[in-house]
Amino acid sequence: MKLRRWTAVAAVAVATAAVLNTLPATASRPYDPTAQSLGALGQRHGLYIGTAVDMDALADPNNPKYRQLAASEFSSVTAENVMKWESLEPTRGNYNWAQADALVDFARRNGQRVRGHVLVWHNQVPGWLTSGVADGSITRTELRELLRRHITTVVSRYRGRIWQWDVVNEAVSDPWDTPPTLHYKGFWAQHLGPGYIADAFRWARAADPKALLFYNDYNIEAFGSGDPANDKTQFVYDMARRLLAEGVPIDGVGSQGHLGTQYPNYDTFQVTAALKRFSALGLATAFTEVDVRSRLTDGVLAGDAEEINPRLQASAANFSVLMKACLADRHCLSYTVWGFTDRHSWVPGTFKDPPQGMATLYDEQYRPKRAYQEIRSDLVFAGPPYVLPRATHRPRR
Ligand code: XIL
Repeated sequence: MKLRRWTAVAAVAVATAAVLNTLPATASRPYDPTAQSLGALGQRHGLYIGTAVDMDALADPNNPKYRQLAASEFSSVTAENVMKWESLEPTRGNYNWAQADALVDFARRNGQRVRGHVLVWHNQVPGWLTSGVADGSITRTELRELLRRHITTVVSRYRGRIWQWDVVNEAVSDPWDTPPTLHYKGFWAQHLGPGYIADAFRWARAADPKALLFYNDYNIEAFGSGDPANDKTQFVYDMARRLLAEGVPIDGVGSQGHLGTQYPNYDTFQVTAALKRFSALGLATAFTEVDVRSRLTDGVLAGDAEEINPRLQASAANFSVLMKACLADRHCLSYTVWGFTDRHSWVPGTFKDPPQGMATLYDEQYRPKRAYQEIRSDLVFAGPPYVLPRATHRPRR
């Protein structure tokens, strides 16, 4: 019985591989994983491998390598910035779609899926909106209506072309915030109360019945960090369960996966357990913004191999933990990195004190790093019985 099930799984896997022209080894045509892109290797599992895309780098005529790798290596793309509200509607009532359209067109030309990022977040909101709220010219009722219109406008424009939307991003505080007890934080919770979360999912669903709708956050890779009574992963889990119980159309939880080699982090089984708890609720899961930053110590900056090598190895191990965990959860639909080259990564510009970097899969000269090879090997070596093809997820009504 059991054996038959694995045989069926294997048959599906072989059929899928055949369709994708990634048939396993034969005597005449040895299987060579080193000739396959991340995206192609992911397809063996039905798993999409994505990257955030910096649209300036993509458009730069002097940077062909960026474009080439973004197109060839990944099966999914996300706009790093250009779908954020401040980019789309810099002045009130005037939407500027050019860059976001360019990303969606790029994906279509290259046969890639799109993760839409992001509809509701407290950062990168237009100045006219925050200042209007601050000076009282935008009332609470108007603010809610503006949010409804924004979500409806953006989701409708890309209806049918976005696979997963990050509907709400980073709504939950961290233990280092004030007060330290976890709570709904930021602009939207302050001005609309936490009910904006359910509203946002309902508005997004109404505008695109086919997109999978995600809640997205960081530091939710595993349960049980720090004080168990103040565990962010548990808070997000409880929130998701409550939203589902209320019939809110949430389809998935995205774990950003911003890690650092200076932290203890988690092992593969801890991360797998967390994904499986989320998916046991009936949700899809995904890693949505994976990168692993390192301290740029004086030694690192001076090129000292004894300081660089352990960081490259720790980075590879951490990328790999998230990849293996994702593979192990059939509901983990995609693994997206937040930029693929150290040449274009948000880390050095954001984590300056102390300086951090080296966070992506390729160095500044587009040379693949150990982390790149390691997650490819995860995709190559994984298979039944623990790693099974992806489960199907349909948008919740
Ligand atoms: C970051 C971008 O990478 C930067 O270019 C920008 O200046 C700030 O935002 N979590 C998120 C992303 O959900 O949208 C953030 O992206 C990184 C943290």
